Amino acid sequence: MAAAPRRACPRTGAEIRAAFLDFYEQRGHQPIASASLIPDDPTVLLTIAGMLPFKPVFLGQQQRPAARATSSQKCIRTNDIENVGRTARHHTFFEMLGNFSFGDYFKEQAIAWAWELSTEVFGLSPNNLVVSVFREDEEAEAIWRDGVGVNPKRIIRLDEADNFWASGPTGPCGPCSEIYYDFKPELGNDGIDLEDDSRFIEFYNLVFMQYNRDAGGTLTPLAARNIDTGLGLERMAQILQGVPNNYETDLIYPLIETAAQLAGVDYRALDTKGKTSLKVIGDHSRAITQLICDGVTASNLGRGYILRRLLRRVVRHGRLLGIDRPFLAAMGEASIALMQAAYPQLLERREVILAELEREEARFLETLERGEKLLAEVLAARPKQISGEQAFELYDTYGFPLELTEEIAEEHGLTVDLAGFEAAMEAQRQRAKAAAVSIDLTLQGAIEQMAAAAEATAFKGYEALEHPSCVLALVVNGEPAEQATAGDTVQLVLDSTPFYGEGGGQVGDRGVLSGDGVIVSIEGVSRNRSVFVHSGQIERGSLAIGALVTARVDGACRRRAQANHTATHLLQAALKQVVDPGIGQAGSLVDFDRLRFDFHCPRAVTPAELEQIEALINGWISEAHTLQVAEMAIEQAKAAGAVAMFGEKYADVVRVVDVPGVSMELCGGTHVA
Ligand code: ALA
Repeated sequence: MAAAPRRACPRTGAEIRAAFLDFYEQRGHQPIASASLIPDDPTVLLTIAGMLPFKPVFLGQQQRPAARATSSQKCIRTNDIENVGRTARHHTFFEMLGNFSFGDYFKEQAIAWAWELSTEVFGLSPNNLVVSVFREDEEAEAIWRDGVGVNPKRIIRLDEADNFWASGPTGPCGPCSEIYYDFKPELGNDGIDLEDDSRFIEFYNLVFMQYNRDAGGTLTPLAARNIDTGLGLERMAQILQGVPNNYETDLIYPLIETAAQLAGVDYRALDTKGKTSLKVIGDHSRAITQLICDGVTASNLGRGYILRRLLRRVVRHGRLLGIDRPFLAAMGEASIALMQAAYPQLLERREVILAELEREEARFLETLERGEKLLAEVLAARPKQISGEQAFELYDTYGFPLELTEEIAEEHGLTVDLAGFEAAMEAQRQRAKAAAVSIDLTLQGAIEQMAAAAEATAFKGYEALEHPSCVLALVVNGEPAEQATAGDTVQLVLDSTPFYGEGGGQVGDRGVLSGDGVIVSIEGVSRNRSVFVHSGQIERGSLAIGALVTARVDGACRRRAQANHTATHLLQAALKQVVDPGIGQAGSLVDFDRLRFDFHCPRAVTPAELEQIEALINGWISEAHTLQVAEMAIEQAKAAGAVAMFGEKYADVVRVVDVPGVSMELCGGTHVA
C-alpha cells in the first residue's frame, strides 16, 4: 500500500469533526445538524446514538431526508456511569460522528470509505488497525480481507453481544463491524484480545442495519438495507492527540483544569483517586450543561433524575477534592465556553443553564447538611460500626459519597460495614432494574406495540367536537387486550377522532366515548408518531375492539385551550414587537387554565415592557380579528412571513394560522375563530 499522503492531519476535536463531515459531504452525504438530546421517541429517555433521529426513517415510517446523510450528534449514555473517570474512554455526554445510507450504499462502500477516512484523512497506519466482524458475517470478513487488504489475523470474529447492534430491545438492528486502534502493534497478531483496553480502543462502528426486532425478539428484514455508523469523536481525539485517555483531550481537559484550579490542586500531581474525581467532573459538566440547554430541569423522574444524579456527582467529587463552596456555575461557564463554537445554542441559553445549576446545587448542599445531621445522630449512639444500611441511606437519600462516610467514621475510630453497603446497593440495583423492565415492557411497550400496528389516526377535531369512531386497538390495565369492562384503565386507538392529541405545546383533549351501553371517560390524548392514543377509564358497560362509539370532546376545556393557544401566538408577536424581533420560541405549554411561552432572549424583559406587551395583546383581543387558517407548501408559508419554530421538523405541506396583520405562525394546534 502506498504511503499516506503527507497532508496536515486533523488534530483538535473541532478539526476532526470538520474533517469527518467534509469527507462524507464530498461523497454525496447531506450534513444534518445534531438533534436535541431529548429524542422524539417515547421508547428512550435520551439520544443515545447518532442514528436515533433517523429511527423512523430506517423503519420506513418517515421519508428519508436524503439517500445519504452525515452528522455529529450529541449523545448521552448513563448505563456505564460507574466507569466514567475510571477507564480511559467512558462518558456520559459524547459526540458521535456518523455516515448514514438509507437504502443506498451498503457494506462494501461503507467499509471502503471507513478505511479511507481512517488511513488517509486521519493518517492512521494500517499497522495500528484491527477490525472485528460479526461471527456469521462472511461477507464483511471477505470485504476487509480481499477488498481492503487487511491481514486476516487482524480481522477478529465476535459474537452477538459485541457485533450485533440495536438501539434498544426493539427496533432497527443488524450485524456490525468495528475498527479498533492498537496502541501496541509490537505485541503481534497472536492472541489478540479486543477487550484489553490498555492495548485497543474501538473508534468506529459500522452497522449493517437490515432488520427490525419486535417485542418477541423476532427479526424481520427491513424494506431497505441501510448503513448506520458511529465514530467516537473523543476517542479519535485521544488517538490523534496522543494522550492517555479521552478526558485529557482538548474536548474535556479545559474543564479538568477549571475544576483543578477551583480545588487548588494540580491534576498531574494527583493520585488515581483525585484524577478520577477531576475526570468525572470534566465529563459530567459537559453533560449537565447540554441537558439543561436542551430543556431538561432537575427532578426525581426520567430525564430530570438523570440530570439531578449527574449534577450531584459533580458536587460530591468536588467535595472529595476539597471544594467546599458552590462551583457548578463556574463549571457551566467553562463548559459553555468550551462547546459554544460547535453548539451556539449554549450561548443563547446561558442564563437558563447557569440559573438551573446554581439552584440545584444549593438544594443539594442543603440535603448534604441534613445528611451530616443524621450522621451525627448515628455517631451519638456510639455504635461499634456504621451499618451497611445506614451508610447506604446516607449515600442514596442524602447523596453522601461512601468515602465521605468512611472518613467521618474514621475520625471517630469507627469503620463502615462495606459488605453490608454493597449488599444494600445491589438490592437497590435489582429494584431499579425490575422497575425499569416493568415500566418498559408493560404499559409503555404495550402502547408502542399498539401504535406501531395502527394506521395514522384521522384527526377530525378542527371542524367538529363530536364524531362517530371505531375502536381499533386496546390496552387494558397495561396489557394488550380485546375487551375492557367497567373499572378498567384503558389506552385506545380510534380510526378517526375529534380529540386533539397533545402536541405543539397544546395539551390533549378530555371528553367521553359513548356507545352501546358503554361510557368511557377520556382524561388525555397523546400522539405516538401519527397515531392518537386516548387514555381513560371505562365508567360503565364494556368495550371491545371493533366497537362503534360517539367520541365527544369536552367543549369547555377545549375552548379554554384554544383561547390559550391563540393567546400564545399573540404573546410571541408582542414580544417580537416590544422586546426584540429576533426572539425565537423555545417551547410552550398550552393548558386549559394557563399558558407558558418559552423564548430565547439575551436579557430580562423589563416591567415597563411587560405592561406594553399586556396592553398590546389586550388591544388585539378587543379588535376581534377573524383567524384565517390555511394549508400551503412550506416555501410559500415562509415567503408569506409565517414564523416557524427553530429546530422543529416540518412536513412539505404546513398549516398556517394567521391573525391578519398581527401574527402568522406555522401551527397544528386548535384556535379560537
Ligand atoms: N449506532 C451505532 C453505535 O451507536 C453506530 O455504535
